[in-house]
Amino acid sequence: MIEFRHFILVVVKLDCRVANDGDCNFEKPLAACGYSQGRDDDLDWEQANTREKPSSDPWMPSGSAFMMMNTSGRFAGQKALLLTPQLRENDTHCVTFHYYIGGRDNSHPGHLNVYIKENNSPMGMPVWNVSGSATRSWGQVELAVSTYWPNFYQIVFEAVTSGQRGLLAIKDVVVQGHQCMNTPHFLTIKGVEVNAGQTASFHCTVNGRKRDNFRLWLQGIGGREAPMKATKPWNNRRFIGTFDVENTTKGDSGRYRCIVHSDKGVGVSNYGELTIKREDQFLQQHNEDLLQLSKSGSVEVMSK
Ligand SMILES: *[C@@H]1O[C@H](CO)[C@@H](O)[C@H](O)[C@H]1NC(C)=O
Ligand SMILES: *[C@@H]1O[C@H](CO)[C@@H](O)[C@H](O)[C@H]1NC(C)=O
Ligand SMILES: *[C@@H]1O[C@H](CO)[C@@H](O)[C@H](O)[C@H]1NC(C)=O
Ligand SMILES: *[C@@H]1O[C@H](CO)[C@@H](O)[C@H](O)[C@H]1NC(C)=O
Repeated sequence: MIEFRHFILVVVKLDCRVANDGDCNFEKPLAACGYSQGRDDDLDWEQANTREKPSSDPWMPSGSAFMMMNTSGRFAGQKALLLTPQLRENDTHCVTFHYYIGGRDNSHPGHLNVYIKENNSPMGMPVWNVSGSATRSWGQVELAVSTYWPNFYQIVFEAVTSGQRGLLAIKDVVVQGHQCMNTPHFLTIKGVEVNAGQTASFHCTVNGRKRDNFRLWLQGIGGREAPMKATKPWNNRRFIGTFDVENTTKGDSGRYRCIVHSDKGVGVSNYGELTIKREDQFLQQHNEDLLQLSKSGSVEVMSK
């Protein structure tokens, strides 16, 4: 009897979890997980459950509940977005999901892009993507997210058709209560301020030992990227990557974050602001300096 009551408690608790914290197994309508379809896209994701309703289509995953996009009969470049609710974890944590590409052998039915959209900012650039050939098997991906209160974020899954027949699917999105096993996390990155024309150096601290398969870069929300310039160890469990945004112009100002790819997924830092002091301010200062010099009578030549 006691055990039975305990069992009920556990079930109720699990149910609350599913409704609140970004997990979704897609067994209930996706709105029950707080997920939503994109508004300004071309297509909707479809929800399917082949455990309850098996499919005779050999390209469909069997025995699972998932979201999918059927790319058959679509033009190339059509998009469908799926958004998680706002996630407000106050610590670095791991989010895992599975993806699937179905279709004829060696066909490429489309792209799957994943975005981490911080606060109400634009989506920015994808942090992870796959466009591989149809394998008809599930692969797991780790997203090592670093966000802190009062910031929040949403994960956006984007399927893009290629014009070839097949399907793209995702399932089992789980917000873990701990860090990723195979993908490192970042500590908070800080903003940088420079004058136009100068080089802005961002420093990203990675919580994890450096491995050969890690690929790091700096990603601007507007699309500018910078490769890693150097790394130096911080201690035996952390290292720092340095990224230079060279020859800055006012157009480079905005938010930047660090990205690290492992074989199993991607680590994403918070955004740090790059402030470029305005060119005209900079020139004004320069002109004032010249004026100062010419007043002192030492630059007759320059003032003609
Ligand atoms: C995908 O779309 C094609 C073309 O409309 C259709 O024939 C096929 O049955 C669909 N497949 C699934 C799994 O819905
Ligand atoms: C969020 O995490 C930071 C760093 O661990 C901590 O200092 C802060 O108190 C936390 N905020 C809340 C509201 O729990
Ligand atoms: C995603 O796309 C970029 C190019 O835009 C590519 O360099 C990268 O390897 C792709 N794959 C993953 C897993 O992000
Ligand atoms: C920055 O400017 C220097 C000098 O003009 C040039 O050599 C270098 O290639 C530029 N770097 C980038 C990233 O454009």
